[in-house]
Amino acid sequence: MQQRRLGEAPPPELLDPAERMSVDELRALQLERLQWTLRHAYENVPFYRQSFDAHGVHPDDCRELADLAKFPTTSKADLRDNYPFGMFAVPQDQVRRIHASSGTTGRPTVVGYTERDIDTWATVMARSIRAAGGRPGHKVHNAYGYGLFTGGLGAHYGIEKLGATAIPVSGGMTPRQVQLIQDFRPEIIMLTPSYMLTLIDEFEKQGLDPAASSLQVGIFGAEPWTEQMRCEIEDRMDMHAVDIYGLSEVMGPGVSQECVETKDGLHIWEDHFYPEVIDPIGVDGGGVPMREGEEGELLFTSLTKEALPIIRYRTRDLTRLLPGTARPGMRRMQKITGRSDDMIILRGVNVFPTQIEEVVLRTAGLAPHFQLVLTTEGRMDALTVRVEARPDCPPARRAAATAELVSGIKENVGVTVACEVVDPETLERSVGKLQRLKDQRTAR
Ligand code: DLL
Repeated sequence: MQQRRLGEAPPPELLDPAERMSVDELRALQLERLQWTLRHAYENVPFYRQSFDAHGVHPDDCRELADLAKFPTTSKADLRDNYPFGMFAVPQDQVRRIHASSGTTGRPTVVGYTERDIDTWATVMARSIRAAGGRPGHKVHNAYGYGLFTGGLGAHYGIEKLGATAIPVSGGMTPRQVQLIQDFRPEIIMLTPSYMLTLIDEFEKQGLDPAASSLQVGIFGAEPWTEQMRCEIEDRMDMHAVDIYGLSEVMGPGVSQECVETKDGLHIWEDHFYPEVIDPIGVDGGGVPMREGEEGELLFTSLTKEALPIIRYRTRDLTRLLPGTARPGMRRMQKITGRSDDMIILRGVNVFPTQIEEVVLRTAGLAPHFQLVLTTEGRMDALTVRVEARPDCPPARRAAATAELVSGIKENVGVTVACEVVDPETLERSVGKLQRLKDQRTAR
């Protein structure tokens, strides 16, 4: 096996000035930027003016960062209600680019960027790739989808801004992805973790050892993934696997990034995005703020965005805020456990797909490819975990693996599920964001 390289912290002189700021310096910068953002939103977006007025708050009421909690939250529904461009705070001729996220139902949410926004985005993406181990001169295979999705183009501009070489492959055409990695020998790859698994299988299908590829770092995001999945990918690829987070409404990828030298959660680029974590239960226009270290729903307020300022955006993602480590001034967010939208409530127990992933990955003989099928049995919901056997799993092992999975889930998640171990290569593969849950419940 090759030696895994590129796991080192960047030398301080390579960091952006904000990455070297103390907490106090950063707080002062954030307050100044927050006050600007609140005024910009209030003066230029009728939605914010109405919503602030209805809550009896005015941008002048923000004298310290804690005052932000007095302001109303914003949700995906607010963006949808103002479809397509109602949330934009600048005239059309200043909007250089539009992206949209499809979501599962209804209208897409549309987001816009000015020239300066695109530059800010490229800056935080370049910073993210550098934190992951990327340096000028590296070749970066970018398999995030190009198009309205923010993954492809967001990563692309960051790669170029860093001074690295972008290989804009986008998603799909999996055999060709492997061919290009073999021929171009990139050091870094960017894609969803589920698509990385698809690529690893493709390497093996082509008779290639994935661990022998040129890749040394993978930057994975756009969907939740677990520590167990990190081990699976790092072992099979012999590379570092680090987490990148972001969402279209706040910017796109590059809102926060895990540093390769610590792999201990994601540093939030707080000079541009202000995080809060609130108690998600019963929130309607402002929940109870959680203390540092407590889990809740993540909110973001943009601090520099011109085209689409966003105030206290409810991400629906669940995490906790932690103090900075590799970048001491900037707080970290713990790896996302799940979205409140993805939570399955099974006989009163909250179940996240990531909890199932943890158990699947530590059960010998089972591959990391699984689906969750939700059905109706009588008056109750029932969950079936359909998981592939690893190609080298002897048929006799399957029954034992099934039993271990059922009892592992019962023990760790607290629910009884049905498990079905299926043949290798039978479940649908991801080429981007994976949809794990198949909801086949009948209406009651
Ligand atoms: O997924 C942006 C992105 C692209 C992030 C590429 C990272 C890499 P949206 O399509 O708007 O934007 O989806 C945002 O995806 O609210 C989370 O629920 C989920 N998500 C994104 N990154 C992570 C991550 C992009 N690292 C939604 N871990 C977010 C867990 C993630 N979930």
